[in-house]
Amino acid sequence: MTITYDSVKPWGRLFAEYVGMFALTESELRGKRILGCGDGPASFNVEATAQGYRITSVDPIYALTVAQIEQRIAETWQQIHAQMIRNLDMFVWTAFNNPDEVKEARLGAMRQFLADLDQGRDEGRYLDASLPDLPFEDASFDLALCSNFLFLYSENLSTDFHIAATVEMCRVAREVRIFPLMGLANQESEHVVPVIEALTARGWIVERVPVAYEFLRGANQMLRLRR
Ligand SMILES: C[S@@+](CC[C@H](N)C(=O)[O-])C[C@H]1O[C@@H](n2cnc3c(N)ncnc32)[C@H](O)[C@@H]1O
Repeated sequence: MTITYDSVKPWGRLFAEYVGMFALTESELRGKRILGCGDGPASFNVEATAQGYRITSVDPIYALTVAQIEQRIAETWQQIHAQMIRNLDMFVWTAFNNPDEVKEARLGAMRQFLADLDQGRDEGRYLDASLPDLPFEDASFDLALCSNFLFLYSENLSTDFHIAATVEMCRVAREVRIFPLMGLANQESEHVVPVIEALTARGWIVERVPVAYEFLRGANQMLRLRR
């Protein structure tokens, strides 16, 4: 099964959060070809582009118009904000002090994304594509990132889907990083070990790497896959 934008609510993170989630360094970004899988309405692409980095983002929501995505955000943000208030203990309140600060940061990121979407589409920076099928040649990217999609929605997506999606990212990029390893049930996803085993068997070096970023409590590791 493939999650569509109907079942994953639009909620976009900032460039600084991507840097934290994936422990990205300047030398890993500068001059490199970077793919973001499931970037949705994050401001990663627009902020990184403004700094001169080369980012391509794929997500099925890029099939929608700016007005359609805007409407979807308007329909869902209050629900996400209310859920956060009801579940304060699920989060680590250091980078953000409270749900209102998260709301402001996320809505700000999504506004930046929406203002950039049409131009970015024209420039080929936002492509309507879905894992596990990416429209790129082998090794087209130096690094592929996947944030808050794989593993997080473990209950909706099968182990086979996770393996196929990771194999596909490894086909198109020399290195892959996935964050977080936890599902929404606040424990490591049951798909992590099968993904590690499947990719190790294909000759990839796979490691769980601790990162400084932690917002969902306990979600402070990424999966790093290298040839
Ligand atoms: C929770 S959002 C995360 C957005 C962004 N990566 C971030 O961390 O802020 C998950 C994204 O996955 C996208 N998505 C759903 N199915 C997908 C698929 N099969 N392939 C790639 N992305 C998908 C959704 O449209 C949504 O934008």
